[in-house]
Amino acid sequence: MSPVRAATVTPRRPVPAHIPRPEYVDRPEPKPYQGSHVQTPDVIERMRAAGKLSAAAIQEVGRNIRPGITTDELDRIAHQFICDHGAYPSTVGYRGFPKAVCTSINEVICHGIPDTRPLEDGDLVKVDITVFLNGVHGDSCVTFFCGDVDQESRLLAERTHEAMMRGIKAARPGRQVNVIGRVIESYARRFGYSVVKDYTGHGVHTAFHSGLVIPHYDDPRHDTVIQPGMTFTVEPMIALGSDAWDLWDDDWTVATKDKSRVAQFEHSIVITDSGAEILTLPQV
Ligand code: MF3
Ligand code: CO
Ligand code: CO
Repeated sequence: MSPVRAATVTPRRPVPAHIPRPEYVDRPEPKPYQGSHVQTPDVIERMRAAGKLSAAAIQEVGRNIRPGITTDELDRIAHQFICDHGAYPSTVGYRGFPKAVCTSINEVICHGIPDTRPLEDGDLVKVDITVFLNGVHGDSCVTFFCGDVDQESRLLAERTHEAMMRGIKAARPGRQVNVIGRVIESYARRFGYSVVKDYTGHGVHTAFHSGLVIPHYDDPRHDTVIQPGMTFTVEPMIALGSDAWDLWDDDWTVATKDKSRVAQFEHSIVITDSGAEILTLPQV
């Protein structure tokens, strides 16, 4: 496969004026979040709706993935779907990001900008969507297969999903957040994969990225104790080869230096008294 290259990014799509937008839109950066990592029942209830919508938008994009469709067209579909449901696509105008979805193909780790590149048969397509609904964000990501994807990449995607689920199951009150990373990394290592360290999970609620960091690798410095009512993402990026990365000239797209393929899955979760509830499950 040839390396993924940047194509043309189309103009930003407007969001209808009646849809409430996050405070950070078109400002250089978000206001630092100063509140608690533990959310109120009201915020959590609103996050259930935002989470479901994020998952539904991803499924809508997934249904349209096929060789020949451009990631810009996928963005148009996602943008329309999110706005039609009365939500703001959280990434539009977030620190200058221009689109409603991150489309990260093959060796692109994350933050790929939708553009006029048509998808090719065999592409691994990570679709990451965050929506802002009723004052809270729901953030999730799925790795899709475009056409006929090689077995090595399929296994990578399956195992990345399994790694995320194991991380989520390890998230229980009283443990440090590092337990999530420890579980994910030890599973990924069994297969000789590497876990991306420089992009992490994060607290998510009224803030998109609250400042709470959820590592996907073992690092005891991340010693925040998990408590009921905490809401955060688990979103491992796992590479077939090395996780060393380069940033493209667009200042967003992150890709592996060795061009090895990467899979990613992401859920937003809330910690309960006994474990975690996933907020971003697609409704079957
Ligand atoms: N949704 C991504 C995450 O999981 C963040 C994307 S920010 C963007 O945290 F600006 F790159 F879109
Ligand atoms: Co995301
Ligand atoms: Co996230």
